[in-house]
Amino acid sequence: VARAGAHEKLRSLGASAAATKKYPEQEDVRGSESNTTRKTFQELQKERQKQAQHTVLINCPSKINEKKFLKYLSQYGKINSHFFYESYGTHAVVEFSEKESIESLQAQASIPSSDDESAVPFKSRLFALKLASALEVSGNQPSIQLQKQLTIPINKLIQKLCLAESIEQQLYILTEEHQLTDENLRLRFLVCSLIRDVATAYFPESAVIPFGSSVNTFGKLGCDLDMFLDLDAVERGRMKKASGTFSIEYQMKCVPSGRVATQRILSVISECLDSFGPGCISVQKILNARCPLVRFSHQPAGFQCDLTANNRVAMRSSELLYIYGSLDPRVRALVFSIRCWARVHGITSTIPGSWITNFSLTMMVLFFLQKRNPPIIPTLDQLKNLAGAADKHIVEGNDCTFVSDLSQIKLSENTETLDVLLSEFLEFYGNFAFNKNSINIRKGKEQNKPAVSPLYIQNPFEQTLNISKNVNQAQLERFVALARDSSWILQQENMGHPSIGSTQPWGMAALLLPSAALSANKDKKKRQRGPASERIKSLLESLKTNHLSGNSTADNG
Ligand code: GTP
Ligand code: MG
Repeated sequence: VARAGAHEKLRSLGASAAATKKYPEQEDVRGSESNTTRKTFQELQKERQKQAQHTVLINCPSKINEKKFLKYLSQYGKINSHFFYESYGTHAVVEFSEKESIESLQAQASIPSSDDESAVPFKSRLFALKLASALEVSGNQPSIQLQKQLTIPINKLIQKLCLAESIEQQLYILTEEHQLTDENLRLRFLVCSLIRDVATAYFPESAVIPFGSSVNTFGKLGCDLDMFLDLDAVERGRMKKASGTFSIEYQMKCVPSGRVATQRILSVISECLDSFGPGCISVQKILNARCPLVRFSHQPAGFQCDLTANNRVAMRSSELLYIYGSLDPRVRALVFSIRCWARVHGITSTIPGSWITNFSLTMMVLFFLQKRNPPIIPTLDQLKNLAGAADKHIVEGNDCTFVSDLSQIKLSENTETLDVLLSEFLEFYGNFAFNKNSINIRKGKEQNKPAVSPLYIQNPFEQTLNISKNVNQAQLERFVALARDSSWILQQENMGHPSIGSTQPWGMAALLLPSAALSANKDKKKRQRGPASERIKSLLESLKTNHLSGNSTADNG
């Protein structure tokens, strides 16, 4: 009943989460109890990859007449969809029905000329639309609708959350504000497809595949784009005949290890992106990392990109998270909210170091949800037991098998509200025996820690590894202290629900106030100085004007 209630609440949200066109992958599960018609992760990826190959990115004059724009482009072929957004100028993403339309567009496009610069003539699917005459901009152009690509500033979010009716609703509003939109996802797949165009010049059978939070349902607007270069995407699907007298193989250059081969390839791709990849700036080779990568900013898209190679285990992690994120709407709402809470308080960071990562934090939320009674999501071993023959995946000796068909997974009987789950999460990790136990989503049970790291979260696929090995004792303690302080705040009168006529931050909004506000309210003795609510209110007022004003959350957090 409460599960149905959760869906009802979702539908009745001001922002109407279930009704918007955002993240269509999620809509089915949010709008109905049935998983039977849902596409698998692989099917969705394929669909979006195909869509991206038919798409172009066009830098436009800021005052553009949409009708004329579409009329101009329609001469090259039928347009399936388009949208505009702002990032270093106005851009349009246009998806054509046929690939040939792009070829005709390319045939018409000219190479820019300038007296003091020279263009590197690499012809891609990134264009700039020029006005034939300055007269075109005059007059009253109806303004075009720009799709948002970044999250709202935190102070605006807090204000919005204050208007909700329950903590549950707050968590859904936060998710709605932070999640990737359909348009942003299209842009992410388009960038992968543009990078693929560079790679296929050398390796015609290669593919560039997004993974991580861009596709695992936990991506926040502004998060980085993780991609991997799959060098023999076509090769793998092909059956080779092994009969007759001879067999034949390629003559190839050999290097000492797969790692060296990866480093060399990434190095070349990096040079190409740096020398002639339109829009690719600040290209960095990070080839000595455990997982060698090329990092760059895609300026027109407005996000940072990490390109790796042969990262198939991470691909399986992404699909696993996709499954968990799609099973029950409470999973994403809790993960988004905990990630946001951790980011605001500096528990996670955009800078690499001893901080807890978003990936680890997601694992902690999933583990907590497995530990509820009855569990809200199945363990990885249970998902493995449901797997069919086609789901079997052994990657570099690691068993990455689990069911891909969502309809095979029985939905949870658990009916707890997000109000309960949020405070139970804080309680759970505020008191977790980190000193002796490890977190293991494969078993859904604490295990004895196999090594001395302060925080031990078993890698679900490479089972001897700890995904949070980087976290030091001090960072873990900060997390635990914050969980306890936040738990205490939520237990205070007026904190769990809105009070009529008051604009003071409550529930999730109160937890997102800066740490100073949180700890000022944690200490019961300090309450003698006045009601907690009054102090939070005044703090918020001062923060609105100082610390938080205009603070965009365009980061990886
Ligand atoms: P964001 O912070 O939103 O970018 O989340 P993310 O999940 O994309 O994390 P990140 O960009 O750091 O990493 C991308 C993917 O790499 C993750 O989703 C995981 O699949 C994988 N990954 C990241 N960190 C680790 C790690 O410590 N161990 C393992 N095995 N995989 C990791
Ligand atoms: Mg990422």
